Amino acid sequence: MRAVLTLLALAACATSTPQPAPEPAAAPAMVAWTAPSASMIPAGPDGDAIRRGEAIARGTAKALPEHVGASMSCASCHLGAGTTPGAFPWVGVTHRYPRYRARSGTEEHLPKRINDCFERSLNGAPLPVDGEPMRDLVAYMTWLSEGVAPDAPLAGVGLTQVEAPQPPDATRGQAVYAAKCQACHQANGEGITLPDGTIAFPPLWGDKSFNIAAGMARHDTAVSFVYEVMPLGQGRTLTPQEAHDVVAYFTTQPRPDFAAKVNDWPKGGKPADARY
Ligand code: HEC
Ligand code: HEC
Repeated sequence: MRAVLTLLALAACATSTPQPAPEPAAAPAMVAWTAPSASMIPAGPDGDAIRRGEAIARGTAKALPEHVGASMSCASCHLGAGTTPGAFPWVGVTHRYPRYRARSGTEEHLPKRINDCFERSLNGAPLPVDGEPMRDLVAYMTWLSEGVAPDAPLAGVGLTQVEAPQPPDATRGQAVYAAKCQACHQANGEGITLPDGTIAFPPLWGDKSFNIAAGMARHDTAVSFVYEVMPLGQGRTLTPQEAHDVVAYFTTQPRPDFAAKVNDWPKGGKPADARY
C-alpha cells in the first residue's frame, strides 16, 4: 500500500513579525493533512479489511450490537470515521500507540485504546483483541495513518484549549442548548434513532448515551469537540463562553454509570475535569 495522504503545508507559526516567547503549552508548528479518499483503498484482502473497518466505524451498533450499549457509532464523535480535524481524527493514530496512559496506569496498545471507547463512549463490551472486527478497525486506522510521518504534530489532533472570560454556567448553557443544539439532539437530549437503527442524531445524555467514564463526559474534552465541530456543519461559530456553558449543561445530565471507574488513575494523575 502506498502513502496516500497529502501534506498540504508545513504550516506556519512562522510569521515575519517577532513573536513573544510562546506559552509552555503552545503547540508546535502544525502539519495540515487531508485524509485519503475511499477510491485509494487497495484491491484485495487488505482493502476488504480496510473497508470493513470503516463500515464498523460508521455503523457500529448495527455491525456489533452485542458490543454496543449506546445508540451511537464511533463516527458519532470521530466525525467522518476519523477523518475530521477537531473531532479526534485517527490519521496518524497508529503512530501514537503503544503509549502510557495515566487513566489505566499502563502502556496501552491501540486495541486496548479502541476497547476503552467500546466500554465507555459506546457504553458496551470490549472486542476480542485478536478477532476480525478489531483487526479490521486497526487495518482501517493503519491505512488512514500511512501518509503521515510518525512524529508529525498533526493539526486538529488532540484537544483545542478554549479560553472563556467567565466560569462555565449550566443555566446559561441550557439556553444555548435550546437555541443551537436541540433541533437535532432533541429537548430530552436523546437525539433521534430511526426504527431501523439508523442514528440520525446521537444522544447527548440518557440511557443510550456515552457513560460517565467516557472522554466526552469530561468538560475540557467536550468543550474542544463542541467548539470545533458543533453545531454540525457550523464549527467555530459558538463563542468560547457558549461552548463552555453548553458543555456544563449537557455533560452533567443523567447518563449510564461505569462500575470499573473505581480502577481509573491507579497511580494518580486524575484530571480536574473527571466526573468522579
Ligand atoms: C462519545 C464519543 C466517542 C465515541 C462514540 C467513540 N469515541 Fe473514541 N474517543 C473519544 C474521545 C473523547 C477520545 C479522546 C480524544 C483525546 O483526548 O484526544 C477518543 C479517543 C479514541 C482513540 C485514540 C485517539 C488518539 O489519537 O489517541 C481511538 C483509537 C478511538 N477513540 C477509537 C474509537 C472507536 C474505534 C470507536 C467506536 C468503536 C470510538 N472511538 C467511539 C470519543 C468517542
Ligand atoms: C444540524 C444538526 C445538529 C446540530 C444543530 C447539533 N448537532 Fe451535535 N451532532 C449532530 C450529528 C449528526 C452528530 C453525529 C456526527 C455525525 O453523524 O457526523 C453530532 C454529534 C454530537 C456530539 C458527539 C456524539 C454524542 O452524541 O455525544 C456531541 C457532544 C454534540 N453533537 C453536541 C452538540 C452541541 C452541544 C450542539 C449545540 C451547540 C450540537 N451538537 C448541535 C448533529 C447536530
